[in-house]
Amino acid sequence: MRTVTDLDALMQLLREGAGAHDAPHQSGTEAVDLLSHGLQCAERLRTWHPEDLELQVAGLVHDIGHQLQPGEDATHGVTAAAAIRELLGERVARLVEHHVPAKRYLVTTDANYLNRLSPVSVETLTAQGGLMTHEEVIACEQLPDWNAGLELRRADEAAKSPGRVVPGLDAWRTVIAQVISATHTR
Ligand SMILES: [Fe+2]
Repeated sequence: MRTVTDLDALMQLLREGAGAHDAPHQSGTEAVDLLSHGLQCAERLRTWHPEDLELQVAGLVHDIGHQLQPGEDATHGVTAAAAIRELLGERVARLVEHHVPAKRYLVTTDANYLNRLSPVSVETLTAQGGLMTHEEVIACEQLPDWNAGLELRRADEAAKSPGRVVPGLDAWRTVIAQVISATHTR
C-alpha cells in the first residue's frame, strides 16, 4: 500500500482527493469530494478547537483511507491511520482511527445522531458494525483521546456541504508541518 512518508507526499495525496469520492453505493456518493470534505472538516475543528492542531490535521486527513483502499468502508480509518502514523504521530493516527467507531458510538448513545447522518453514512453503518453493545460503548470510553475522536466525527458529518467556502489546502501546509515537527522532536 502507498505510504505517506513526508509532507510533500501527504499534500499530493490530499490534492488527489479533488474530484475523488468514497466508493459509490446504492444511495450515491457524498455531495462533496474528498478534498473539500477534508478541508471543511479541518476548518470546523479549527473553529471548535483552535488550540488543537493535531485534531485539525486529523480532520484534514481522516478519509484518505478511501483513496488508499477504495471501497473498504469498514477499514478506511485503520488504513488511513497506518499510512500517517509515522509522519503525523500516534495521537493523530488514533484520532483518525477513532472516527469510524465514533459513528457507531454516537448512533448508539445519541438518539438524534442517526438523523444527522448523510444517506451514504447511514448505508455504510452496517458494514462498519452497526450499533454497539453496552460493553463496546464502555470500552470506547476508556480509550485515549476518545472525546476528541467524537469531536472529529461530529465535524465529519458537518463537512459535507456543497459550495461551502473554506481555506484551501495550501493554508494547511504550515499547520501540518508544525504537527510533523512536534511529532519528531518529542
Ligand atoms: Fe469523513
